[in-house]
Amino acid sequence: MKYDFNQRINRNRTNSFKWDFIKRNGGIEYWDETNPALHEKPVLPMWVADMDFPSPQPVIEAIEAQAQTGIYGYAYTPPSYYDAVVNWMDRRHGWKIERDWICYTPGVVPGLHLMVATYLKPGEKVLLQPPVYYPFYLIAENTDTEAVLNPLIYKHGHYHMDFEDLEEKCADPDLKAAILCSPHNPVGRVWSAEELRRFGEICLKHDVLVISDEIHGDLIFSDHSFTPFATLGPEFADRSITCTAASKTFNLAGLQTSNMVIQNDDLREAFQTMCNRSGVFTLNMFGILSLEAAYNHGEEWLEQLMVYLEDNYRFLETYFKEHLPECPVIKPEGTYLVWIDFRSLGLDKDELEDLMMNKARIYFDEGYIFGPEGEGFERINIACPRSILTEALDRIKEAVRSVNI
Ligand SMILES: Cc1ncc(COP(=O)(O)O)c(C=O)c1O
Repeated sequence: MKYDFNQRINRNRTNSFKWDFIKRNGGIEYWDETNPALHEKPVLPMWVADMDFPSPQPVIEAIEAQAQTGIYGYAYTPPSYYDAVVNWMDRRHGWKIERDWICYTPGVVPGLHLMVATYLKPGEKVLLQPPVYYPFYLIAENTDTEAVLNPLIYKHGHYHMDFEDLEEKCADPDLKAAILCSPHNPVGRVWSAEELRRFGEICLKHDVLVISDEIHGDLIFSDHSFTPFATLGPEFADRSITCTAASKTFNLAGLQTSNMVIQNDDLREAFQTMCNRSGVFTLNMFGILSLEAAYNHGEEWLEQLMVYLEDNYRFLETYFKEHLPECPVIKPEGTYLVWIDFRSLGLDKDELEDLMMNKARIYFDEGYIFGPEGEGFERINIACPRSILTEALDRIKEAVRSVNI
């Protein structure tokens, strides 16, 4: 089957986080019929990480069939659910896991909250590598733990880890866990096996638990390969937890289904106990069905998606080179999020946000929300039909030109 990623689907007023919320008057407002914003020039949402593409046909069919029964009672995760996860990890990543290692949670972010609450006491520390996915900061805040920062180094248009600083930070006995964002959101790095090994060795040496968030691990560009952290060796698998989901890969985020893979029995039991005590007993019926359909029958769609995303990226890169050469684009190695450096415009974070929101009329995830290292950058989501991307780029160009004049 050939999928058409050029097709535009109207997502306005579908309770879409991405399309129905806008930044306005210094806050975020729901864009409904009563909101005066409706009469302003529509904002193009290029922010939150969901795609403007329908999921693979087998997913749609599985959901439609269940929806037609009209009965939406409690669902359980059948053996076929776990088989789908096990087979996917083996087939796509050469990672051999067992059914029993899988603990489901209603999303990776809730899973991360539960995890930090399981393994860290209030006041203990968790390491993050900014600029990084902003809910990681909230996880530390909400679990009364302290975020310790090991900023990435940005040099010659490329991000890499600061291992010396990591070694220093990990030497703190209160530092108990490190959240690894792999691939990294927002900078788009797909960490090499060597980088991961070095990161893992430092963590292991200081007995720092690695929580590897691999939600973007299926979205890898053709000249890169993804290494699940746990495949580095048994000692790494034993002292780590991996967060996985089909949600970014197949655009299923609204179905809130994810899987934490925990090989170590003690770590897994502790986490499961935390889930039970928090009332996390079941998953969404459609989430279960869609994961199985996507992992078992979605590969063809994913292959075509990656071709489209890479084309979208090349289009954006060429556009910036031609029209906005003063704003470097950081080449992503995976994900569908592109990190762009607007610092040459000389605007502070509020001015840049104002320019993009009110002049360009684009809703970005502003660089500063990923940490102060992100100030002057914007994160653009390119998982949209080319026509939307083109419109966004034209708007950016016009807005940036107005600054230069
Ligand atoms: C690194 C990372 N982790 C987790 C999430 C969200 O996961 P979930 O929707 O399963 O809570 C995202 C979404 O963008 C992400 O980029």
